[in-house]
Amino acid sequence: MIEILKQNKKSWDIIAHHFNGKDALPSYGPFAQTEEELNLFDELANKKVLDIGCGSGHSLLYMSGKDAGELWGVDLSETQIKTAKETLKHLETHLYCAPMEKDIGLPKSYFDIVYSIYAIGWTTDLSSTFELIYSYLNPGGYFVFSWDHPLYAHLISQDGQIYLNGCYQNEGSTTYHKFKGEEAPVVIPKRKMSTYINELIKAGFIIDSVLESDVSVHFDSIKEEPSDRYYSLYKARKFPTTMIIKARKM
Ligand SMILES: C[S@@+](CC[C@H](N)C(=O)[O-])C[C@H]1O[C@@H](n2cnc3c(N)ncnc32)[C@H](O)[C@@H]1O
Repeated sequence: MIEILKQNKKSWDIIAHHFNGKDALPSYGPFAQTEEELNLFDELANKKVLDIGCGSGHSLLYMSGKDAGELWGVDLSETQIKTAKETLKHLETHLYCAPMEKDIGLPKSYFDIVYSIYAIGWTTDLSSTFELIYSYLNPGGYFVFSWDHPLYAHLISQDGQIYLNGCYQNEGSTTYHKFKGEEAPVVIPKRKMSTYINELIKAGFIIDSVLESDVSVHFDSIKEEPSDRYYSLYKARKFPTTMIIKARKM
């Protein structure tokens, strides 16, 4: 586990620049419905928010635009944290370079909102990560996260047909020797939809909603062509790219 984290950290430092401002709120993910369409966050003004896998800091910038009261973020990559500090340089922030699965002493029962946009699936320990997130929240606070729909990763598009690739039933991890075309090997855990839901329940959360995102209205006027790319409008119109879950601490 520590070896995977070390490897992913090294690789994220190399590929970070590909993700500057990408996968950030109001977007929940590739072709997915946006926060403006889904309204999953209630009032944000004066709320203390914590971003798990905050990347380049653009989701926190969105939160600041909605008058969030305190901006906190954690990310594994030094490069991402450096970029986030630059993105948020005019704001007061609390940014930490650390793995989300580790207790680094962030305040407990403190945050109104914890959220994570396209980062949670990287955790090497989902149970500890959800338990920690639960502990950071104030009673009544909530957690929103988005990630690849767990079945989406198994769907490959080939010549206008979509096929099931590999085995959805087997959890584990997949090693990609290159990422974003760079010599940056990463290990991405592979989990079923039910695992995410059951781990939330085990951590004590009450689930408010589970969304298998539609395509955003922003793409309404775009006619898709059959495409064999991993993320394509063609594939996204047939199957959700993104799952989004909102869960609450009572
Ligand atoms: C697609 S980016 C997220 C973008 C970000 N949510 C935003 O709003 O700009 C995924 C992020 O997860 C981070 N990450 C990967 N593994 C992690 C881990 N174990 N703990 C914390 N962050 C991690 C990466 O460094 C990367 O910045």
